[in-house]
Amino acid sequence: MIASPVSGSAAAPSARRRLVAAALAGLLAACAIFMAAAPGGAQAPTAFTPREESPEEFPEGAGRDETFYACTPCHNFKLVAQQGMTRNQWNDTLDWMTQRHNMPPLEGDDRKIVLDYLEATYPPSAPAGRGGWQNPFMKR
Ligand code: HEC
Repeated sequence: MIASPVSGSAAAPSARRRLVAAALAGLLAACAIFMAAAPGGAQAPTAFTPREESPEEFPEGAGRDETFYACTPCHNFKLVAQQGMTRNQWNDTLDWMTQRHNMPPLEGDDRKIVLDYLEATYPPSAPAGRGGWQNPFMKR
């Protein structure tokens, strides 16, 4: 009666150790099977890469989001924001993107929205985009 709890507590650690060892062995076996299966198995899904830019990073204005999403399927918007052009030059740029790079043509209102934004936000010689030079004495 008195001895059994003693022997029980003496037996418990080794039993537990054996259990842990068995569990570890099982884990190792599972790893080995997994690793053996991996090369032949399905490829890891390609990691989703979020856009590195968002429209909010660029000056606010009517048509900003439309313009951002029209241009960013192919290149980042900084490429656009670092330019300063007249409406005509922007217009030519849109043609150029379409003719040379297969941009879906922007027509009608879509084109107007994009041109309005580009003209207002990125005019010649005073690029308002990031990286563009801004006169620190001229508060906009
Ligand atoms: C279908 C793909 C595509 C789309 C959409 C697109 N572009 Fe481009 N764009 C390119 C490629 C490719 C280049 C770089 C090669 C080059 O300069 O010819 C480029 C380069 C540029 C340049 C840099 C030219 C230079 O002098 O380095 C500007 C400015 C530009 N794009 C403006 C725009 C604007 C504005 C839009 C959205 C209205 C737009 N792009 C949408 C493909 C595209």
